[in-house]
Amino acid sequence: MKDHPQAVAPPLISPDEFATVADLLKRMTGIHIGSNKRAMVSGRLAKRLKALEIDSVDVYCTWLQQPGNAAEQDAFISALTTNMTRFNREDHHFIHLADHILPGLAAAARAGGRIRLWSAACSTGEEAYDLAFRMLDACPEAAQLNLRILATDIDKSALSIARAGIYPAASLGDLPDGFADRHLERGAGANGMARVAQGARDLITFRCLNLNGEWPFKGGFDVIMCRNVTIYFDEDTQARLWQRLADRILPGGALYIGHSELLPESIAMRFTQQERGAFCLPPDAPPRTQRRGADLNTAEAQRPDSNGGLG
Ligand SMILES: C[S@@+](CC[C@H](N)C(=O)[O-])C[C@H]1O[C@@H](n2cnc3c(N)ncnc32)[C@H](O)[C@@H]1O
Repeated sequence: MKDHPQAVAPPLISPDEFATVADLLKRMTGIHIGSNKRAMVSGRLAKRLKALEIDSVDVYCTWLQQPGNAAEQDAFISALTTNMTRFNREDHHFIHLADHILPGLAAAARAGGRIRLWSAACSTGEEAYDLAFRMLDACPEAAQLNLRILATDIDKSALSIARAGIYPAASLGDLPDGFADRHLERGAGANGMARVAQGARDLITFRCLNLNGEWPFKGGFDVIMCRNVTIYFDEDTQARLWQRLADRILPGGALYIGHSELLPESIAMRFTQQERGAFCLPPDAPPRTQRRGADLNTAEAQRPDSNGGLG
């Protein structure tokens, strides 16, 4: 957790220090952080500065940008991102997916087709595992077919939790009846934690990726879930990202966006909205991307700890 209450609130960083941090974060991630978040930023950075025994925000920010400080750049990003998520968040998306999208994708995969899903900004993994659970229910033999889920986030600490796939038993209460019994092993982790079963884990590849950087893969996706992340970007950054994501949806596929996010009208008009935040591209829509090549395609991006060189 990034915001534990502290006995003594850390001192507020100055407006100039805040501006330096906000500018750096924007350049590294695309995240726009408003000055109303100065107390939150002060608290989160105080922990980094204390751990490093640095007492100046300016010194920290200058040092951070020097070559060789990639690990602290990751820690800086991790400290300032918000990873709030849970299983089955906005369950109407998963119900829509199961009812309208997955039966067709399962049939296509069984007929030898290549099927790709992407949880873009997967945080600690719950959303990606939700996709896997639904896919396995629609197609129990999914792992034997050419059917995979890519799950990406910019925060490497969140990705470590995602890869481990071990969650508090209490978090399973968000899942529909029967899901935990089918897809998780209770008590497999320490202290009553539950571990996602191998079947779901086998479908997912977790990678570090900055959505606002280059994407080290080509080709399209049948499903993209990009929820509750563009809210952290400014309007231009959002519009650019929505365009790139929409162009990666294959005909007959779907893009799911978060409840407080808005697809620009010029993009939304290419899709039919069948459910809140569920945008489907008609099967006869002109393809803007190729089905082939949706995998990460660089040696750098294959490393489990890699961000694909995207900063
Ligand atoms: C609030 S969580 C959303 C998680 C999940 N999609 C959901 O809806 O529950 C936002 C996530 O976006 C990630 N994020 C922020 N900026 C990003 C960027 N530029 N590229 C990729 N991920 C980013 C954060 O690290 C965080 O894990």
